[in-house]
Amino acid sequence: MRILAIESTCDETAAAIVESFEHGVRVIKSVVASSAEIHQKYGGVVPEVAAREHIKSIIPVITEALGDEEIDAVAVSYGPGLMGSLLIGVETTKALAWAWDKPLLKVNHMMGHVMANWIVERNQELKESRNQDNVIPILPGVGLVVSGGHTDLILMKSLTDWEWIGGTRDDAVGEAFDKAARILGLPYPGGPEIEKASQKVSDDKWKKMDKKYRLPRSLLNEDNLEMSFSGIKAALARLMGSSELLVLGSEFKEEFVNLVAREFSEAVIEVLIRKTLMATDKFEVKSVIMAGGVAANKTLRERLKKEIENRDMKFFVPELKYCGDNAAMIGAAAILRPVESNWSLKPEPSLGVV
Ligand code: KG4
Ligand code: ZN
Repeated sequence: MRILAIESTCDETAAAIVESFEHGVRVIKSVVASSAEIHQKYGGVVPEVAAREHIKSIIPVITEALGDEEIDAVAVSYGPGLMGSLLIGVETTKALAWAWDKPLLKVNHMMGHVMANWIVERNQELKESRNQDNVIPILPGVGLVVSGGHTDLILMKSLTDWEWIGGTRDDAVGEAFDKAARILGLPYPGGPEIEKASQKVSDDKWKKMDKKYRLPRSLLNEDNLEMSFSGIKAALARLMGSSELLVLGSEFKEEFVNLVAREFSEAVIEVLIRKTLMATDKFEVKSVIMAGGVAANKTLRERLKKEIENRDMKFFVPELKYCGDNAAMIGAAAILRPVESNWSLKPEPSLGVV
């Protein structure tokens, strides 16, 4: 089974050819064109601009991914995402399925993120940490889905039986990273920028940080699987607006921004790890499976892996290039959890993960 998968939910136009391989999928080709740089000057994604960029990129991206490959079906992510962006991927895919007379498969974008863990093409770090038997996630597992629009904990009983068990009450964690970066004067997308800034602060310096700069870890000690990230962003805005900062010279200001970025990362990561561990305590699972753009965060990857392995469970996370939006993950979901659609397929901007 070989599939052409198409992704256009936000600001990445992507196409990939994937095929079934053992119990997972193998990527033949994956092409991603991002308009993130264009959005940088606005400090966030401008939907109208994103849609126009998709229109420009979609045919070249598909042509490059397809090459001379023969395919059995076409798949597209139909939500959640921005309506204008989704329409372009969905309508293009429908046209191709019709013209080529191939089955049309629809994929939930968030499920796609999770299914990136079934891509059997791992980087060295992962290959070394696993033996051949556990390249593919072992179920039942707890899924931690962390992206720009979603933060969910899901119980994955089998490949197809998933249950939502917790998540954020307000902002998604990626959204919090993006908003925090904006407050700190760092470019969009904020996650990688905050990660870079926070890496400039030594452990020692962060530990000795004045307590008044500490940010809240909302709901951390509440015995439930709920999270909240809007309070931390508000606290960060208050901190950055305080009058004592206005008198700092630019060199000290940069140092302060790095320190606050580190504290922000620590707070968010602490909440994500604690709530994931609570979920593994509550449900008997063999593994934790992380996915989504924020799963690219190195500190989060390393710390969560350590905590999970200390508890004798397995930890799975996609290779970096399959954490952010891409079409290979959409192909993985389409192959392993196929849902056939027809010509009436329409984008669903507010689709949930399960
Ligand atoms: O999954 P994704 O590519 O798109 C959505 O489906 O939303 O996630 C994008 C989000 C952005 O908010 C971005 O700031 C965040 O993922 N992100 C990160 C990192 N890389 C991307 N957040 C924290 N650390 C990172 N290294
Ligand atoms: Zn995404």
